[in-house]
Amino acid sequence: MNTIHSMQNDIRRLKAERDVCILAHSYQSHDILEVADITGDSFKLSEAAAQVPQSTVVMCGVRFMAETVKLLSPGKTVILAAPDAGCPMAEQMDKDMIAAFKEANPSYTVVAYINTTADLKTVCDVCVTSSSAVKIVKALPEKDILFIPDCNLGQFVQQAVPEKNIKLLQGGCPVHATVTAKEAADAKAQHPHALLLCHPECVPAVTKQADFVGSTAAIMQFARTCDADEFIIGTENSIAAHLEMELPHKRFYPLSKHLVCDNMKLTTLSGVYRAVAGIGGEVITLPENVMNAARVCIDRMIELG
Ligand code: 13P
Ligand code: SF4
Repeated sequence: MNTIHSMQNDIRRLKAERDVCILAHSYQSHDILEVADITGDSFKLSEAAAQVPQSTVVMCGVRFMAETVKLLSPGKTVILAAPDAGCPMAEQMDKDMIAAFKEANPSYTVVAYINTTADLKTVCDVCVTSSSAVKIVKALPEKDILFIPDCNLGQFVQQAVPEKNIKLLQGGCPVHATVTAKEAADAKAQHPHALLLCHPECVPAVTKQADFVGSTAAIMQFARTCDADEFIIGTENSIAAHLEMELPHKRFYPLSKHLVCDNMKLTTLSGVYRAVAGIGGEVITLPENVMNAARVCIDRMIELG
């Protein structure tokens, strides 16, 4: 048995012995997805987090995801497998600035992408994920909305929900936002029969060239169910690799070699082993006032989503 298989078997045995559930975001590597109990995009993980029966959850992803699990399951031990895995977008907005905006503009509802810190969530009214953003913004009774932090996802929502007055701030994912309009045009020219599938975190000059724009899960589902057999994948490059493995009769081309989230890559199989064994990772703790205040916008997301 090779080292990877033997470590995976040790993780499976330890999970059962120690009552641990492993959640893994789809941007994780294949060897990690294979040992996870639940895999998916941030929407699926945040929903699943509230339902899992185990007393301990190991999150393979980035810090805001582990914080969200803790908010939804305050009684569980939540371990972030790679303690250094942050999300630069989640830390972009200043909490005091958002609180001051709300005070000066009381008609506005603050809609926060789930890719935000628990601390920032304390001043937000409702959370969304890339899968649920359009649906939730549509369902809100309020007309004036401040959408943070991703202005690219925000513009995507603006277009889909023109009846709302949506204000954006300058922020976004440094990985998805690096893709240029020229890269998209070049990829399409190089693969003229392929459909371009893009995440809404890409800039509008890229998404407007796409045949389909959607969350990680929506992109994967589109590729599975669409009759076409060639696709350019405009999101983190792990998704092109996972799809290639899952659908070997179809072809997947990464849109750009820059679509790699280094933070997501900080989780390794040995890091997962150490977290499950209770000798690694970081146990997530949040102050009670942060837990209570941040939970409000997560609950509203679940209610509206
Ligand atoms: P989704 O998982 O919601 O598609 O988001 C992608 C992402 O960048 C996660 O950090
Ligand atoms: Fe954050 Fe972007 Fe990485 Fe997602 S891909 S974790 S939004 S930096």
